Amino acid sequence: MSEQTEPKWRKIQKESGIIGDSDAIRQLIETIDQVADTDISVLITGESGTGKELVAKAIHQNSRRRDNPFITVNCGAIPEGIIESELFGHEKGSFTGATNVRKGYFELADEGSIFLDEIGDLPIPTQVKLLRVLENLEFMRVGGTETIQVDVRFITATNKNLRKEVNKGHFREDLYFRLNAMHIHVPALRQRKEDIPLLVKKFAADFCRENHIDFKGFREDAVSLFKDYSWPGNIRELKNLVEKIIVLERGNEISESTLSRYLHSASEDNKNLPVLVDKPKEEIEREFLLRVLLEIKGEIAQLRDLLLSRERPPYRYNALPEITSTEYIEDIENSSREDSSKKSVSEMEKQLIQDTLARTRGNKRQAAKLLGLSERTLYRKINRYGLR
Ligand SMILES: Nc1ncnc2c1ncn2[C@@H]1O[C@H](COP(=O)(O)OP(=O)(O)OP(=O)(O)O)[C@@H](O)[C@H]1O
Ligand SMILES: [Mg+2]
Repeated sequence: MSEQTEPKWRKIQKESGIIGDSDAIRQLIETIDQVADTDISVLITGESGTGKELVAKAIHQNSRRRDNPFITVNCGAIPEGIIESELFGHEKGSFTGATNVRKGYFELADEGSIFLDEIGDLPIPTQVKLLRVLENLEFMRVGGTETIQVDVRFITATNKNLRKEVNKGHFREDLYFRLNAMHIHVPALRQRKEDIPLLVKKFAADFCRENHIDFKGFREDAVSLFKDYSWPGNIRELKNLVEKIIVLERGNEISESTLSRYLHSASEDNKNLPVLVDKPKEEIEREFLLRVLLEIKGEIAQLRDLLLSRERPPYRYNALPEITSTEYIEDIENSSREDSSKKSVSEMEKQLIQDTLARTRGNKRQAAKLLGLSERTLYRKINRYGLR
């Protein structure tokens, strides 16, 4: 299609990286287009991994504020005690440790957009203050007496049902109404399965290009099998699985039967067993076992990579030799024996967090998951160890 005849939503789609050909995606992008150039506050809802952050960025990128800051604040990850000083800034001496004046996120976002992610996790007292900022675009720094005016556009997101949070008394109704004025819902992947083949091919192509992997591709029957799964973790889960299969299968062509071993339909909360239901009992049991083993194999490879990443250049596909779990346990035992003689537990913890962050390229959510910590705890430890 030529430049002139290409619909505007296609252009926004290309620039924002929101992949999909379904009506739902087209409508989503058309709504982004409609709201972007206004200053209206937008609440983005949708399950985890559906692409809310991509939508928030696309709104900013298509607004008149695009050349000004886009500040993302993960409200769920900031410890309650410091959230107000993070958002509104603080004056020198306003609390122990406040040795300097510090600008908060609202001031940093001046003339741009602020994206308040996980807004449902904001403590009630902060919700009250936020409502005031939304209404008057002014606030005071913690410990300050001067009113500060800002010109900020609000974009918020949550995977919680805010109406239910209001009913439970966890979220203020007045703030909910104010935020909900313009609401964009990002549909779950299972509600737009027609987008799956495109997503699979794009994620595979991008991952192989970035990691110099020569991948033989997914067979057509495998691509359509992706559509049979319910994807509770949505696009994030799909993307992670595509990348994991490419690594574990060493770039070989993926058939339907190979893929069926990987699909997580065995997870307790997912009653959907599309791949297995019409197979004999013994075969189902065998496949369950295989899946569990593959999961373990994947995790062992990740852990091994994590442990060795200090001695190795950044992750490369070819640098993942086969190991058995016994070898791996011996590896850990040896390395921890060596390490523990030289390092304290907190030094080792610091190192592990650093390595994990390097491995997830700074993605704290993924790092927290790998480490089995809550995001808030990980942030606390990052601050405690002075990590960046
Ligand atoms: N339509 C899409 N096209 C391409 N990539 C997508 C799409 N939707 C999501 N992604 C990718 O999936 C991952 C998760 O997306 P994102 O972080 O925006 O989800 P989220 O809804 O904010 O999830 P959470 O509620 O867990 O924060 C990201 O890597 C993102 O780039
Ligand atoms: Mg998000």
